[in-house]
Amino acid sequence: MAAGVRASRPQVLVCLGVLLARWVAAGLEAPVIGEVHENVTLHCGNISGPRGLVTWYRNDSEPVFLLSSNSSFRPAEPRFSLANASSLHIKALRLQDEGNYTCQEVLNETRWFRVWLRVACGPYEVEVNISSTGTLPNGTLYAAKGSQVDFSCSSRSWPPPVVEWQFRAPDSSTEPFGNNVTVSSFILLLMSRNLQGNYTCLATNTLSGRQRKVTTELLVYSPPPSAPQCRAEMSQGQLTLQLTCRWDGGYPDPDFLWTEEPGGVAVGTSKLGVEMLNQSQLSDGKKFKCVGSHIVGPELGASCVVQIRSASLVSEPMKTCFVGGNVTLTCQVSGAYPPAKILWLRNLTQPEVVIQPNGHYLITQNGQSSTLTIRNCSQVLDEGYYVCQAKNPVGVREVDIWLSVKEPWNIGGIVGTIVSLLLLGLAIISGLMLYYSPVFCWKGGKTWVMSWFWWIQKKRK
Ligand SMILES: *[C@@H]1O[C@H](CO)[C@@H](O)[C@H](O)[C@H]1NC(C)=O
Ligand SMILES: *[C@@H]1O[C@H](CO)[C@@H](O)[C@H](O)[C@H]1NC(C)=O
Ligand SMILES: *[C@@H]1O[C@H](CO)[C@@H](O)[C@H](O)[C@H]1NC(C)=O
Ligand SMILES: *[C@@H]1O[C@H](CO)[C@@H](O)[C@H](O)[C@H]1NC(C)=O
Ligand SMILES: *[C@@H]1O[C@H](CO)[C@@H](O)[C@H](O)[C@H]1NC(C)=O
Ligand SMILES: *[C@@H]1O[C@H](CO)[C@@H](O)[C@H](O)[C@H]1NC(C)=O
Ligand SMILES: *[C@@H]1O[C@H](CO)[C@@H](O)[C@H](O)[C@H]1NC(C)=O
Ligand SMILES: *[C@@H]1O[C@H](CO)[C@@H](O)[C@H](O)[C@H]1NC(C)=O
Ligand SMILES: *[C@@H]1O[C@H](CO)[C@@H](O)[C@H](O)[C@H]1NC(C)=O
Ligand SMILES: *[C@@H]1O[C@H](CO)[C@@H](O)[C@H](O)[C@H]1NC(C)=O
Ligand SMILES: *[C@@H]1O[C@H](CO)[C@@H](O)[C@H](O)[C@H]1NC(C)=O
Ligand SMILES: *[C@@H]1O[C@H](CO)[C@@H](O)[C@H](O)[C@H]1NC(C)=O
Repeated sequence: MAAGVRASRPQVLVCLGVLLARWVAAGLEAPVIGEVHENVTLHCGNISGPRGLVTWYRNDSEPVFLLSSNSSFRPAEPRFSLANASSLHIKALRLQDEGNYTCQEVLNETRWFRVWLRVACGPYEVEVNISSTGTLPNGTLYAAKGSQVDFSCSSRSWPPPVVEWQFRAPDSSTEPFGNNVTVSSFILLLMSRNLQGNYTCLATNTLSGRQRKVTTELLVYSPPPSAPQCRAEMSQGQLTLQLTCRWDGGYPDPDFLWTEEPGGVAVGTSKLGVEMLNQSQLSDGKKFKCVGSHIVGPELGASCVVQIRSASLVSEPMKTCFVGGNVTLTCQVSGAYPPAKILWLRNLTQPEVVIQPNGHYLITQNGQSSTLTIRNCSQVLDEGYYVCQAKNPVGVREVDIWLSVKEPWNIGGIVGTIVSLLLLGLAIISGLMLYYSPVFCWKGGKTWVMSWFWWIQKKRK
């Protein structure tokens, strides 16, 4: 383009020195600027009022006829016409039209006016290249955090344009970002979130002031920094299982896929990572896998697994309580995932009754271990089976504990029992000694107990 213009520029001939002398000061005026394909009007001096015979010429030194207000002369080209009796109107400007024009007006005297026409072209296109980035379905570009991004912009115009980059972060003002050349490029080495925003390449034609710009939105994406976390928990009424997958810290939010393992049957995909399962989909030992996928994360995604289990219960099978005393039944739950809800029940009547804590019953739970304390035991009310029940969506497990309630032993009763046992022991021992060595027993007048001890000692040797 530039070469073409320079080639067609008229050579200045050193001839009409006389005419130059008679030029009106208009020659010092700023050039008239037109644009290619547009129309332009060149005025024959800054004069109002009646005009004389006007003739327009091209070329500074050797005038080439263009147009005359004497209608006997046809315009040199149909693009030229006379406007307002004296002005030269040029339609559909070309770059070759750039140059100096001369207007001759013959009234009482002949006057010459010079008009300098400059023709600008473009910029019509701005070519922007941003690499290496990905493109979203809506056309927006994204780059991974920490990556390198090359920006380059070029445009063409006559005269050559000023090309510059501008950056605008969300909710802030535009800042210049680049240099004043025809091709502007720069490299951002370590993309970060604060470099996310709109990048505008602006090309300006310095002659016409015409500007073209291309704005490109660039998002800076980053995957979550750590591994995803899987969790299963009970939902309403302990009948529904809620699977939750968390994979925080990424931008934008990742997508989650829950599958049954093994087999990979999909449970659901979501942005939240939460799925609800009813009991029919659950069985003891079943595994569920969550795969988080992020647009700039690992290609295969990142995953975690949960295994659901019903509870195992451990408890003492029997407990005894004395009338008026306290007793504590303990129930140890293990292996349940999600953690089980532990209930104490009394199976006196159908249906089983859940024991509610009150002055009589004290229930404490510490982790997956629960204790039921029965205060002030009563034989009629409290003796019987107690059930410890551990419930999660995977299943319900129960263990029975038999509580017997006894009358506390009084001292008389205890002494009586000991004496009875002693007498019983004596009878048995006497029987045995009579059986094995009846003679020895009755000799020497010693007490039978001493003799018996001596006899035991001897037997041992
Ligand atoms: C300007 O003058 C030169 C020399 O006479 C001529 O060759 C050229 O064609 C002229 N240019 C125009 C646009 O008339
Ligand atoms: C140029 O002028 C012609 C008539 O003289 C008109 O039809 C055309 O629309 C104009 N073009 C521009 C770009 O103004
Ligand atoms: C014409 O010239 C006069 C004085 O020289 C100036 O005040 C005026 O603005 C000019 N008009 C135009 C249209 O250039
Ligand atoms: C117009 O040009 C013709 C031919 O050159 C000439 O005869 C005529 O006098 C001119 N008219 C004026 C008003 O100058
Ligand atoms: C002709 O003159 C009138 C009034 O001065 C102006 O409004 C109009 O734009 C002029 N036309 C051209 C083509 O310069
Ligand atoms: C027209 O004249 C100006 C001086 O008034 C000069 O600078 C310019 O180069 C000339 N244009 C051409 C095409 O000769
Ligand atoms: C032209 O000359 C006549 C007489 O010579 C004079 O009356 C008239 O005002 C002049 N016109 C201009 C525009 O100078
Ligand atoms: C394109 O999509 C991304 C992600 O959904 C969004 O952040 C961005 O604003 C969208 N851009 C346009 C121009 O719609
Ligand atoms: C580019 O150049 C123009 C004019 O020389 C100046 O006003 C502007 O500030 C420059 N821009 C940059 C980004 O250097
Ligand atoms: C880029 O510009 C568009 C339109 O003004 C705006 O909607 C969008 O939020 C901007 N994007 C950023 C990242 O600033
Ligand atoms: C039973 O427990 C209650 C409350 O903890 C206590 O006040 C009471 O003394 C206890 N009774 C016996 C016999 O330990
Ligand atoms: C109470 O528990 C015992 C022992 O498990 C069981 O045999 C009996 O059927 C239960 N009674 C009721 C009413 O559930």
